[in-house]
Amino acid sequence: MRVAVVGVGYVGLTTAACLAHLGHDVTAADLDPQRIATLSKGEIPILEDGLPQLVHDGLAARRLQFVLGAQHAVPGADVVFLCVQTPQGDDGAADLTYVESVVREIAPVLTPATIVVNKSTVPVGTTRRVQQWLSEYGASTDVRVASNPEFLREGQAVRDFLNPDRIVIGCEDPATAVRVSELYRDLRSPVLVTDAASAEMIKYASNAFLATKISFINAIANLCEAVDADVREVALGMGYDPRIGFEFLHPGPGYGGSCFPKDTAALLHTARQSGYDFGLLDGVVAVNRQQHDRIVDKVRDALGGTLTDRPIGMWGLTFKADTDDLRDSPAIAVARRLLDEGARVCAFDPAAGEQAATRVDGLALALDPYDAATDADVVVLMTEWDEFRWLDFGRVHDAMRVPAIVDARNLLDPAALRRRGFAYLGVGRR
Ligand code: UGA
Repeated sequence: MRVAVVGVGYVGLTTAACLAHLGHDVTAADLDPQRIATLSKGEIPILEDGLPQLVHDGLAARRLQFVLGAQHAVPGADVVFLCVQTPQGDDGAADLTYVESVVREIAPVLTPATIVVNKSTVPVGTTRRVQQWLSEYGASTDVRVASNPEFLREGQAVRDFLNPDRIVIGCEDPATAVRVSELYRDLRSPVLVTDAASAEMIKYASNAFLATKISFINAIANLCEAVDADVREVALGMGYDPRIGFEFLHPGPGYGGSCFPKDTAALLHTARQSGYDFGLLDGVVAVNRQQHDRIVDKVRDALGGTLTDRPIGMWGLTFKADTDDLRDSPAIAVARRLLDEGARVCAFDPAAGEQAATRVDGLALALDPYDAATDADVVVLMTEWDEFRWLDFGRVHDAMRVPAIVDARNLLDPAALRRRGFAYLGVGRR
């Protein structure tokens, strides 16, 4: 099928490259000329496993092309995917400005019978609004609209796209849903066809539920610390129950990234607007915020009560491992708080690059993990990069002024570190 993808951020680029890989003819558009030029050369501006190869293959086979401006991508397309950002507005609501401006731009040039599919995470009711905007801005009355939310995790977006747990298509018209499902014909996955509002809600409910699991285990971890239990044993013992499962029960510094914080806030906004008191989700968000503070408290405790002028090493800045994304990263939040209390923070991250220093005033960047630890009174491990497991801890010990580690991800082996003479503090560990 002929596909247009509007917006080549994480979601749009992955969607475009994977659909080209599945044999469709894909034209992907963005309004950033720099991004289009870079992508057209096969250079990928984000860290995403497998994506460079797919983009390269798509360009070489001429099944994938990048163009500037959505109006140049959509004429003749069978399906147009909207993959633009829906940032969080001041009131927590998802901001639909970009969605509306793309609809305004493409409406007059859409071929009749094109299906416009929303992949951006948008509040319930947006699919219907897109249909209204299309007719307001002059699209043919034959243009159909569907919702097809994505469930991609950064760092494994390609794998998630090509091996989905489910494909959700929300649409009022069964023939349109069947057309959209044909795009995914070669993937083995259950396809759930439902109404648009339910599809939109599935996305928010899924992310809110995963965030709830994380806040729940973080709250249990905090309780474990109070009663001398070990949260890792507790999560293991819980996870064997298939109704609970092992996944998303890793305690840490709280969830971050471009999705959970934004989507929980947007769902709370929807709840408020609908007159529903979603106290449970309020609690999830509150626990998450407290979790950042608890890591700061642990660092302060490790330093004997004061952060002022103390040298702190930080390992990891991205919101999770295997991505270069710093958006809403707990590490950034914790670094800011430590600096606000007068500490000196020197951080190393294998993927974040120089952009980290521009996000946090006063943050120094180190060349490697040893450099970050040099002369530090404590190191706080914020992101679960695998390479931090395999460091030469003898060298780390000798480099530090005081050998103390706060492990906000429970990545390291406390017994081995203590044997080497480190003071170790994890999350919810005895
Ligand atoms: C999340 C969802 O997992 C995807 O299904 C969804 O498509 C995506 O949001 C989205 O809405 O676009 P992502 O934000 O890439 O994906 O990251 P996750 O792997 O879900 O992790 C989110 C945060 O939770 C990270 O900060 C991570 O460190 C944290 N986390 C995750 C924990 O603290 N504990 C866990 O057990 C799992």
